[in-house]
Amino acid sequence: MNMYLNLFAATLFVLLLVQRDVSLATVERIDNQKSTYIVHVAKSEMPIIFNHHSNWYKSILKSISTSEETLYTYEKAIHGFSARLTKEEVQLLRSRADILEVLPEKIYTPLTTRSPHFLGLDKRADKVLESNGGSDVIIGILDTGIWPESKSFDDAGLGPIPSKWKGQCESSADFNASNCNKKLIGARSFSKGYEALGGPIDGTKSPRDTDGHGTHTAGTAAGAAVEGANLFGYASGIARGMALHARIAAYKVCWPMGCATSDIVAAIDAVISDNVDVLSISLGGGAGNYDRDGIAIGSFAALDHGIVVSCSAGNSGPRPSSINYNTAPWVITVGAGTLDRDFPAYVALGNGHIYSGMSIYSGKSLLDPTPFIHARNASLKEGGEMCLMNCLDPKKVKGKIVFCEQGNTSAVEKGFVVKSLGGVGMVHRVEDGEELAVQAHFLPTAIVGIEAIDDIQKYLWFHPKPVARIVSQGTKVGIKPSPMVAEFSSRGPNQITPEILKPDLIAPGVNILAAWTGFRGPSDLDQDRRHVDFNIISGTSMSCPHLSGLAALIKSVHPNWSPAAIRSALMTTAYSTYTDGKKIIDSATKNSSTPFAIGAGHVNPIAALNPGLVYDLKVNDYLDFLCALKYTPKSIETVTRRKYQCNAHKHYSVTDLNYPSFSVVYKPTKGGKRARIVKHRRTLTNVGPAGTYKVSVTSDIPSVKIQVEPNVLSFKQDEKKSYTVTFTASGPPPSSGFGFGHLEWSNGKNVVGSPISITF
Ligand SMILES: *[C@@H]1O[C@H](CO)[C@@H](O)[C@H](O)[C@H]1NC(C)=O
Ligand SMILES: *[C@@H]1O[C@H](CO)[C@@H](O)[C@H](O)[C@H]1NC(C)=O
Ligand SMILES: *[C@@H]1O[C@H](CO)[C@@H](O)[C@H](O)[C@H]1NC(C)=O
Ligand SMILES: *[C@@H]1O[C@H](CO)[C@@H](O)[C@H](O)[C@H]1NC(C)=O
Repeated sequence: MNMYLNLFAATLFVLLLVQRDVSLATVERIDNQKSTYIVHVAKSEMPIIFNHHSNWYKSILKSISTSEETLYTYEKAIHGFSARLTKEEVQLLRSRADILEVLPEKIYTPLTTRSPHFLGLDKRADKVLESNGGSDVIIGILDTGIWPESKSFDDAGLGPIPSKWKGQCESSADFNASNCNKKLIGARSFSKGYEALGGPIDGTKSPRDTDGHGTHTAGTAAGAAVEGANLFGYASGIARGMALHARIAAYKVCWPMGCATSDIVAAIDAVISDNVDVLSISLGGGAGNYDRDGIAIGSFAALDHGIVVSCSAGNSGPRPSSINYNTAPWVITVGAGTLDRDFPAYVALGNGHIYSGMSIYSGKSLLDPTPFIHARNASLKEGGEMCLMNCLDPKKVKGKIVFCEQGNTSAVEKGFVVKSLGGVGMVHRVEDGEELAVQAHFLPTAIVGIEAIDDIQKYLWFHPKPVARIVSQGTKVGIKPSPMVAEFSSRGPNQITPEILKPDLIAPGVNILAAWTGFRGPSDLDQDRRHVDFNIISGTSMSCPHLSGLAALIKSVHPNWSPAAIRSALMTTAYSTYTDGKKIIDSATKNSSTPFAIGAGHVNPIAALNPGLVYDLKVNDYLDFLCALKYTPKSIETVTRRKYQCNAHKHYSVTDLNYPSFSVVYKPTKGGKRARIVKHRRTLTNVGPAGTYKVSVTSDIPSVKIQVEPNVLSFKQDEKKSYTVTFTASGPPPSSGFGFGHLEWSNGKNVVGSPISITF
């Protein structure tokens, strides 16, 4: 059991920066030869003698097992149940005609003062919403739970809870029904799957957030305005969620070692029954095809009930093709960008050289020259150079600034070690992929760029009495250029369906200030006993709830829009250039970003309220999409709970999914030659006044001709019009194998933009 737990712990938590590259293990408890499975049942086959599906599911279990005990019986998110089964029992189930799929349990990981202002969302949006209130929209958050005492969940000024709400506020030892109010209208926890896997939970099973992640994402999506919010005086200002008046329903599915599919699906079941409008999922892990991924499957059912689902793109960037989950075309996939805010700190060496970096620390700067030592020179044994616990000589560290090498532990933890030995400051290089993200350090710290490291090390090696100062410069705003793509944000091309461009767009995800739990300090260290009401963290976990809140705003202004129309509005109004016309910079390359990093671009909420035209989609369009992917009837039913026969005589094409972006893929044909012509068909719906739109196209690949037919569309109110884009390749492909472009429809006022990626 112990060994198993270690293995489990290795996959830890959160789409925060701290643990990136989450390896998704299919974890199985070894004790009694049973593992958890999620069983998808063809409900249409239910014999009429059963008055309720739960009785039928029990009888199915009984037919193959001595136990008829389920973990969960699902109703809305999937048709089926989860249970502990042996391999033999799974074989027996799979051989039944009424069983669609038996999927093993998986572990998923949970992958702002300044952001509302940065997004242009302060005064103007509040005005837009005054007429409407925006308070009828309910955002469901699947995460680590909630810290209800946070001021971000204050319900002052909010009207009665929307009458459609059917959810609950769970009661347990450390959580009360009285912890809910008119802002936090519901809170539940789901742990049966987790406990079946990892054993009983330490402490109480309740919606209370003992981690901080769920409180932060909920606050970002729809937290109330809190004046004077800050972390140790940094990023001070008004913290507020994107949808100030929207209601929050917290569904705790993540526990100290991760989040189990069976619990996630149970929570989505509740989200649907409870009448949530927007579902925010800052979790990742379900790599693979849609019919094997609990989040993709549950999200489809949510979409089917009109719920907008927003998911994190993942923190596996900047490697190409690093986006490998949360890419279903029925969810919004959100990458991360920076804000215009920074926390500069510099280190000044005794030789007069100054290296700028960043840091957050609650105390004073080291303004006087202070002895500076390379951790190697204070090392007792291997690991000392990285400032690991018990590896440094306290006598050599005491009273000094220590330069710690990268590796094995986080910079925050190294600082903790240095401080515990009497050290007074730390210098560290930026950690891979964390270019611009800060953490709350335990002592004066400067996190400097890689280019500074050689110089600093040389100074430390060759100077007989090295000294340094570490100076924090507080919070700086108005940083340009901004936004930039965060280095960690996962990149396309999409591996699962290359013809769908992912991520869809980016939103703020670096150094985001939002509410925090009272249970943990601001860093990810267990030893961190500091208490903060707000914390600054980074990750696509943070960009996802920004989008969830913005989707809620659109929903409140346009209550009848479909999830696809809301996504389209957010995407076609996103911007991919700065006001000077230059493309958004990718912080990984310091060069222009491409649609593989930003999708349609950075979200522009005010414009999204009035997009002019939208690319709409109905549930049937997604069924046709699955037919185009050649999903079997069983797989289609697993994903969609529908018996759907693809028409053998119909030509289904992925390129006809009415998506607001274009991913053109030239695949080799049978003869080994590449296809030269790819067509994408789209339909626009006018959601503005009658008018005439003209198309324009730009691209950086002259060897691919892009034709739009027709190139002028005149719309009456609410009218739909279709067009076809033909991509004709001639000549050799570019050496990179990729090219990009942009297509937009404009009536002179509204610009309806779509990114184009072309892959050879
Ligand atoms: C729950 O409510 C009861 C009575 O209202 C109160 O005595 C108790 O302290 C509350 N517990 C928590 C954790 O708030
Ligand atoms: C630190 O270690 C390096 C390499 O071993 C050595 O050259 C240098 O003199 C040491 N510096 C101090 C201040 O001890
Ligand atoms: C650092 O981590 C590596 C890889 O996990 C491990 O092999 C090594 O022993 C660690 N070093 C120390 C000093 O703990
Ligand atoms: C930056 O992008 C341009 C245009 O795509 C390209 O020509 C150039 O090589 C890139 N520079 C770097 C340093 O990657």
